[in-house]
Amino acid sequence: MSFTRRSLLLTGAAALLAPGDYAADMITLSPSPKDLEMPVEGFIDEITPVEHFFVRSHTMIPEVKLPSWKLEVAGLVGSPLTLTLDDLKKLPRAELVSVLECAGNGRGLYQPHMAGAQWRFGSVGNARWTGVRLKDVLAKASVKPTATQVLMSGADDPLAAMPKFQRTLEVAKAMHPDTLLAWEMNGQPLTPEHGFPLRLIAPGWASDSWVKWLTRLELLDHDFDGFWMKTAYRHPNKHIAPGASVDAKDLVPVTDLNVKSVIAHPGEWALPGVVTVQGVAWSNASPVTKVDVSADGGKTWSTAKLTSTPTKYGFRKWSFAWKAAAGQYTLMSRAANAAGQVQPMEPEWNPSGYLNNATQPMPVVISATKPAPAAVAVATDTQPEPDGYKTACFICHDDHMMQQQHLTRAQWDKEVTKMTGWGAPLKDEQRNGLLDYLAGHYKP
Ligand code: HEC
Repeated sequence: MSFTRRSLLLTGAAALLAPGDYAADMITLSPSPKDLEMPVEGFIDEITPVEHFFVRSHTMIPEVKLPSWKLEVAGLVGSPLTLTLDDLKKLPRAELVSVLECAGNGRGLYQPHMAGAQWRFGSVGNARWTGVRLKDVLAKASVKPTATQVLMSGADDPLAAMPKFQRTLEVAKAMHPDTLLAWEMNGQPLTPEHGFPLRLIAPGWASDSWVKWLTRLELLDHDFDGFWMKTAYRHPNKHIAPGASVDAKDLVPVTDLNVKSVIAHPGEWALPGVVTVQGVAWSNASPVTKVDVSADGGKTWSTAKLTSTPTKYGFRKWSFAWKAAAGQYTLMSRAANAAGQVQPMEPEWNPSGYLNNATQPMPVVISATKPAPAAVAVATDTQPEPDGYKTACFICHDDHMMQQQHLTRAQWDKEVTKMTGWGAPLKDEQRNGLLDYLAGHYKP
């Protein structure tokens, strides 16, 4: 497996991109490919500002230039199209507010752990998206009745032998009036991180379907078997025991989000008295109807007040006035939707760690004085880096990717196989030393 000149150039190009104006408190899971998480304090906003909005990148962010950018509509259509952004802007404008949540949000909170970006709370945000209905674009192209899927491709290029990020939407979802092609987020052109100039908006669905930097839509009459449809972003269609493996035939694509809520305030400490517990809740196509709050780790619950005007797919703010005496407490919030779905106490474990919507314990100290922060233990590392670690593993990303994992040796073995498959130039004789090192450092 070799590095093409193109992939190396791309790495260079991404480094040249402006860093973007992110809030200083964003949590960096990986600087490049760029994965940034919003801290829980961000859940105080109903509309998430772009500078606080999580970023999820599978590869380097492409620097797309207008006016050379075009959107092609091809495959099973009567009239193939090549559209500029101005062509799209001539179609009826459509706008909606919707939550965008990474399928892996909450992966870092699953036990046992699995490989992948260790998102905890904040790979989710809520924005106003502006563009056109996908169905209007498809109507212009005269989709043939045999078409069943829309294959979406973007301007991002995979690194080395990594498979290109491509996803399909079933025609029924593509034709839904709320499925958009958007060029604006919160009234501004999309930033490169969010898919400039055009991304798909699939309200109610996890963000793996919200393809960025769109350049091509291809109508197909069969399921697409690319890696990101056939292998990644699938979860079991039935309950399985935590840690158990699942037969590939029992895995289905991730689509709808789960009903969920997060506590933004008061954080880890508050003064005794009436404490305003507040945050947001969200759901799929079925709206949030109720949020309950517990101050005793889920033994008893009280109903919170829904404080914002509902939007079909957006965050719903809630608030609860909690009379708190000095002590240590465990706050929890639990949302329910109109379809009768309720956040569970235990998450539905699945091998890739998707759609974790379990209620989460948030410890809080109520006292007249702020407790001193706990001392942070500094690890002293005596194990030397093994041969080949940097040369094989630091080409496409740095060790942020490794540090956030908590994996067994067997899990690291699978991860190294995935990465050598994508082009990591690891020699056979270096493999055992590397596995010992990774499993010794980044273990459950
Ligand atoms: C060809 C480029 C490339 C090389 C070389 C590479 N990686 Fe990766 N790695 C990636 C990309 C791209 C991602 C992010 C994938 C995503 O976001 O879905 C990633 C993600 C990861 C993750 C996060 C979990 C996951 O699967 O997404 C771990 C852990 C990891 N790499 C470890 C390694 C190790 C260990 C090596 C050396 C053996 C290595 N990588 C070499 C491209 C590479």
